[in-house]
Amino acid sequence: MRRFSAWTRSTLERLAEVAGYTPRHIMKRILVTGATGQIGGNVVAQLRDAGCRVRALTRSAQSHKLPHDVEIAQGDLSAPATLDAALDGVDAVFLVWVGTLEAATGAIPRIAVRTDRIVLLSSPHRTPHPFFQQPNGLRAIHAGLDRLVEESGRQWTILRPGPFAVNCRNWWASQIATSDVVRWCHAEAETAPVHERDIAAVAVRALLDDGHDGHEYVLTGPASLTQREQVRIIGEAIGRSVAYDDLAPAEAREVMHALMPVPVVNMLFDAYGATVGIPAFLTTTIADITGMPARTFRQWATDHAADFARACGNAQ
Ligand SMILES: NC(=O)c1ccc[n+]([C@@H]2O[C@H](COP(=O)([O-])OP(=O)(O)OC[C@H]3O[C@@H](n4cnc5c(N)ncnc54)[C@H](OP(=O)(O)O)[C@@H]3O)[C@@H](O)[C@H]2O)c1
Repeated sequence: MRRFSAWTRSTLERLAEVAGYTPRHIMKRILVTGATGQIGGNVVAQLRDAGCRVRALTRSAQSHKLPHDVEIAQGDLSAPATLDAALDGVDAVFLVWVGTLEAATGAIPRIAVRTDRIVLLSSPHRTPHPFFQQPNGLRAIHAGLDRLVEESGRQWTILRPGPFAVNCRNWWASQIATSDVVRWCHAEAETAPVHERDIAAVAVRALLDDGHDGHEYVLTGPASLTQREQVRIIGEAIGRSVAYDDLAPAEAREVMHALMPVPVVNMLFDAYGATVGIPAFLTTTIADITGMPARTFRQWATDHAADFARACGNAQ
């Protein structure tokens, strides 16, 4: 495992003090799982900015793109015995789970005996809004993960973000790179996309501060926006006019299936279909926990403008 250099530690500690973090925070060692992913990567970055000792879990210690001064631990959540070295001396764990529930029944108890605190990335499957109440396989997995963490005997916090804003990049960037039209389903479905940095900011507070034990936080962006409005805002952020082609169901499913497996297409199609013309569920939890307003979708689109750049050969 790589270690911080003395120079880097003292620089980070000075930066952390300026940012209002205390030496008590800095002394904590946090294991971040999903560290190479969309949320975990931001948790690593923000813990690092706070001067914490971060250990990042990845299955592939060779091919990751994590910063060079982050301690790397190789391990596989679906093979719990591979986690022991990563968990050595860890005060808290940020847990991102993308595997089966069966594998979690081995990993989570093993994590629990080696740390004091678990912060789980789950979903708002308990929230009584139609978007979150459609049948899908992930709900059962998240409910099972919640139960394992709640019954772990450790301090726990469960984060329940609604749809990530970054989904828009994953689904639409390739279309926007090559045309001025996004062809997708349910143009008038409303969601409150949440910026990945805001989810990470809440995770950092729950990992470092007292007072979050036994809490579950539903995290949303600050405003309800239709998918058509989201595409328009992305267009404004990149200085282009991008239209939304509201496809008929069969065609939409075909376009979506090019990017994701059929069960995921079905899950998204049902969830978005259930919220056409229905305002998204909104919370103020991000502001309440971090003291900063949740970032707007326009801010997210500006932050990610480069991701939507035209593909070479399509300049107009
Ligand atoms: N997208 C949404 O709108 C949304 C909303 C609410 C909740 N969620 C939940 O968010 C989670 C996904 O978070 P994300 O988007 O940040 O993840 P992501 O970008 O898809 O990255 C997945 C991460 O999991 C790690 N990983 C995968 N299999 C692993 C294994 N067997 N052992 C150890 N690490 C493993 C990968 O690390 P390596 O490849 O480096 O090993 C990678 O860092 C899911 O649980 C999803 O249900 C998503």
